[in-house]
Amino acid sequence: MDDLTFLGIESSCDDTAAAIVTGDRRILASVVTGQAALHEDFGGVVPEIAARAHAERLDYAVEQALADAGVSLRQLSGVAVTAGPGLIGGVMAGVMCAKGIAAGAGLPLVGVNHLAGHALTPRLTDGVDFPYLMLLVSGGHCQFLRVDGPEGFTRLGGTIDDAPGEAFDKLAKLLALPQPGGPSVEAEARHGDPGRFELPRPLLDRPGCDMSFSGLKTAALRQRDQLIAQQGGLRQQDRADLCAAFQNAVAEVLAEKSRRALARSPAPLLAVAGGVAANGTIRAALEHVAAQAGARFLAPPLRLCTDNGAMIAWAGIERFRLGHRDGMDLAARPRWPL
Ligand code: KG4
Ligand code: ZN
Repeated sequence: MDDLTFLGIESSCDDTAAAIVTGDRRILASVVTGQAALHEDFGGVVPEIAARAHAERLDYAVEQALADAGVSLRQLSGVAVTAGPGLIGGVMAGVMCAKGIAAGAGLPLVGVNHLAGHALTPRLTDGVDFPYLMLLVSGGHCQFLRVDGPEGFTRLGGTIDDAPGEAFDKLAKLLALPQPGGPSVEAEARHGDPGRFELPRPLLDRPGCDMSFSGLKTAALRQRDQLIAQQGGLRQQDRADLCAAFQNAVAEVLAEKSRRALARSPAPLLAVAGGVAANGTIRAALEHVAAQAGARFLAPPLRLCTDNGAMIAWAGIERFRLGHRDGMDLAARPRWPL
């Protein structure tokens, strides 16, 4: 195996991250500084605030990663950076930081697609072989990818509106639960009866692997408003039951669409990434579907499922091995389909 050591930089959403990763899959350091507190009062990520915070924190994150790894710039083989898709101000801040380091230290620069970073994570964490099927479910993304190589991605389907994490966050907001919504909804759902409220299973009646989650949120809003009209407010149990119904609906949709994806494009492994993969009910449903299809199920550790620099460093290494290099004209791209 080669002896590559890459710096990876990620700043496409609300995490400023830098990591040092080796070609033999060792994560020497991984620094992630979230911005949740900065955006908390706005009920979502504010692009301007995110961009400024990235610009302020990137240097620190890189310095910290190098220090944690005990590696100097001279010992690096290259710099990988998320060049899109994402919030453009943040992506630009990351790309500029990476260019500065690459030019200053005379290192190769490799631009990485953020989604490829997530999609290649099972190779970093578990050394899995191609091909495999990846379900990416986060606050910003929801798609099925067949992964045949470091640049061999086929999108089998995805959400046509909200991502599931976004839907969890919006439901939490409707029910006055703390953000991020996913963990709060999951905690409430533990005491809930998923059968009390009937919520739709959007797009299950249509063939294919596309999904939709915004209708689910609207249906939950309607149930909430009905309860408020009838009772003058929401009781603790109402919240729990609505959360349980919502979580079950999301899990069922993701499971059924995963079953279809595996049927359409059989693979020995179903992997998930993204914050929503932390949800126990969803995880169990996906595990079941994989087992039924005779596939292994893999969920990388949560810190590598959510946004991080290690996945970008690793995807950079995989691209670098294919001979890919970028110049100082590497552009930040708000949209960049795989
Ligand atoms: O991957 P991630 O950290 O960030 C991006 O979206 O890029 O995902 C965050 C999303 C949030 O929407 C959050 O509510 C959701 O993942 N999430 C969960 C859970 N933990 C986090 N959703 C459902 N159940 C959870 N336990
Ligand atoms: Zn992400």
